[in-house]
Amino acid sequence: MKTLTMNQKAEAVLRQNDRGGYTVPTAGLYPYQWNWDSAFAAFGFAQFDINRAWEELETLFSGQWDNGMVPHILFHQVDDGYFPGPDVWGTNKALPSSGISQPPVAATFARKIFEKDPQAGAQRFAPLYDKFVAWHRWFMDCRAETGAVCVTHPWESGRDNAADWDMAMANIDTTGVGDYQRRDTSHVDPEMRPTKYDYDRYLAILKFCREHDWDEAIICEKGPFRVADPTLTFTLLRAHRDLKWLGEQLGKQTKELDAWILQLEAGAESLWNEAIGSYDSKDLRTGQFSGSVTSAAFLCWLAGIDDKRMVPQLDRILANSKYSVPSLDPHSEQYDTKRYWRGPVWAVVNTLIGIGLEDMGYQAQAERIRKDCEALISTHGFAEYFDPADGTAAGGGTFTWTAAVWLSWVNGNGQES
Ligand code: DGY
Repeated sequence: MKTLTMNQKAEAVLRQNDRGGYTVPTAGLYPYQWNWDSAFAAFGFAQFDINRAWEELETLFSGQWDNGMVPHILFHQVDDGYFPGPDVWGTNKALPSSGISQPPVAATFARKIFEKDPQAGAQRFAPLYDKFVAWHRWFMDCRAETGAVCVTHPWESGRDNAADWDMAMANIDTTGVGDYQRRDTSHVDPEMRPTKYDYDRYLAILKFCREHDWDEAIICEKGPFRVADPTLTFTLLRAHRDLKWLGEQLGKQTKELDAWILQLEAGAESLWNEAIGSYDSKDLRTGQFSGSVTSAAFLCWLAGIDDKRMVPQLDRILANSKYSVPSLDPHSEQYDTKRYWRGPVWAVVNTLIGIGLEDMGYQAQAERIRKDCEALISTHGFAEYFDPADGTAAGGGTFTWTAAVWLSWVNGNGQES
């Protein structure tokens, strides 16, 4: 029997997770369309099917709210295997969805897909451009009141149980959350997932927002969780730059984007925590930094900020990790090689960090990170994330975004392997 190449296996994962116009991150654990997962999926599809790549983004924007927000989950077809489902979110939209967003990497990958085939790009992106601008405007209006971009729920950052949120989570009142049944821990080892303590707080925040009808003004003023986040700040800054480029290809006026870029450059600087020599997240309710060095800090280069202060910080983390980039500093007390965003390596974050490093001319570090990804995926498969100490697969398997970054960035030279 003919053995499949890694590229063929990666394509098969994308096809297998295709539900017709959108992909699920992986069957079972995540049976819906997730926002940033779809942006990576589109980048993966673009390596062999440009039409399907654009379709993924078009479907994502079919769930856009009137206020411009693009939700983090679109519940296209109800599936009891996932909690919390549409009834818990209670957002009452024609296409049921969650009520928060996710890291806005879509414009960055839309640009890369456009560059692969400018003619198809101009045609397919033209109807999407205003929708992207409206989404970016929503972030600037509803999440950037202190300059940097904040999250109103840990899920909005994409880094659900990162150490960044520990202090802010400790202040959340969980009275009234009641009983509930998690489904994630029936799909994967509970040691690799957030704890019950975390879930009680995730649900308490959700309950507050639902009880206030997802009103952004109330959530901004009184929401139980509001933390300025390097992931959102850096990805949105990069996305603004890419959207400006896309707008220029379409002959659009991009002044609004220029203003947002300046605003976020200043906002990013407000996340510099001198005490740890790194970008950090900051609890807007208390003004306190989290004090953790996480992989999100290394997205500064992606954002177009050539911060020399971060180079020794990255070199230190690389020197201390068998497989880079761990989601949390291995010297942190909270470091846990298996538990989701408290240590494991995520190939998607590596891709974002790697693209930024390449753009800024840090080839050696980018190549180290790319090689680590290559070794992890070719040895342990298209896992959701990986143990940084021994490389073992963790979380869900046959994962869309890991297969997508294999095709697009990790093995992006197009050669079969
Ligand atoms: C989950 O269910 O773990 C997701 O990360 C929430 O978006």
